Amino acid sequence: MTTGVDVLIIGAGAAGMMCAIEAAKRGRSVVLIDHANKAGKKILMSGGGRCNFTNLDVQPAHFLSHNPHFARSALSRYSQWDFIAKVNLHGIEYHEKDLGQLFCDHSAKDIQQMLLSELAQEGVDLLLETSVLSVAKLDDHFAISTTAGVFSAVSCVVACGGLSIPTLGASDFGFKLAQQFGHTLLSHRASLVPFTWNTKDKPLWSALSGLATRARVRALEGTQFELDLLITHRGLSGPAMLQISNYWQEGEALTIDWLPSMDVAQQLAADRHEQGKKQFKSWLSALLPARLAELFCQQWPHQKTLAELSKADVLYWSEQLNHWQFVPGGTEGYRTAEVTLGGVDTHDISSKTMVSKLVPGLYFIGEVLDVTGWLGGYNFQWAWSSAWAAGQDC
Ligand code: FDA
Repeated sequence: MTTGVDVLIIGAGAAGMMCAIEAAKRGRSVVLIDHANKAGKKILMSGGGRCNFTNLDVQPAHFLSHNPHFARSALSRYSQWDFIAKVNLHGIEYHEKDLGQLFCDHSAKDIQQMLLSELAQEGVDLLLETSVLSVAKLDDHFAISTTAGVFSAVSCVVACGGLSIPTLGASDFGFKLAQQFGHTLLSHRASLVPFTWNTKDKPLWSALSGLATRARVRALEGTQFELDLLITHRGLSGPAMLQISNYWQEGEALTIDWLPSMDVAQQLAADRHEQGKKQFKSWLSALLPARLAELFCQQWPHQKTLAELSKADVLYWSEQLNHWQFVPGGTEGYRTAEVTLGGVDTHDISSKTMVSKLVPGLYFIGEVLDVTGWLGGYNFQWAWSSAWAAGQDC
């Protein structure tokens, strides 16, 4: 027996739930399918359990895509202010952490429950632990075979997300479906992800595990972030490293400035006049966390005062402290990555409605598309905005 519906959405994550609510508000009959046992699992895990659900400052420049203009329309039609209004309407308490990032005061569950209650209110049929077996386009509708039966849908929305954290239900189903219908899948990789040590740095640096400091990290193409950095036994993590991972290419070096508010060469030139008799090592210890200063000093077998530093010494320390070169062994991959960078090419998708330009009635929303935000609530905002746009049309 085939069940006829207006809209069938595959993936009950952030984007799928939002789109289902919007389509149902327009009077469409909506079935929302997920193979996981809960809707919005990533929402629950996000922001350390508090969900960084959006950002006060959302600009197209906070998103990466092969088409940098693609996200503009959806982000302006359903902005952070619209989502904040929804959160306010539900009486959810939240706060700005820093850099405009909004987090729930209590729990990420507040956001998941808000969406679940709206789904129920709008009469969306949510089918969990249901797998999609095949999707075919027949004239003016889609025939979608699932483990819960066969559906005939006028619109089919692909909201399957990316590949990050397979244990939360991530799969390549959305990518495969896109390719099945003639869409181009652009190269993709784990991003907003910690880096791992290369074999040369690991023995020395992993001993500093647990150390956090402010640093400026620059990618070869020029983008840089001055944020907290965390040394772990596996590699380098923390907001600075997660942000730069969006801009890093395999094999490239990252430049780390351990003293971002100081030009080391200039400061040494000034201080050798004022404090010439000071031991260089005590000068350095006053500037860096103790264990980090110690590690740098271990690699420099000299006992010199500031006045005794040669030009070569000053150059060496300027390079070590302001321009330290780190060639990651790699990243921790999809196991811990927050997002997939890359995905379904937006070239063949309408930026206004998210509908496929190749297959009428087929929509792609959220992370499955080649739109990736910075760390800081931007990826959820993209999920809300793209889903809202599709929800007005499907
Ligand atoms: P999402 O991944 O949310 O949903 C896809 C859904 O499709 C899942 O429910 C999955 O089970 C389902 N699915 C997949 N394959 C399927 C199949 N074959 N059949 C049926 N269902 C299928 N972002 C942010 O802005 N602020 C934050 O605080 C965080 N924090 C964060 C923490 C962690 C640990 C992670 C992993 C990610 C974040 N993110 C984030 C990123 C954010 O979670 C992500 O960008 C959005 O959830 C993307 O929303 P989507 O709905 O597109 O995919």
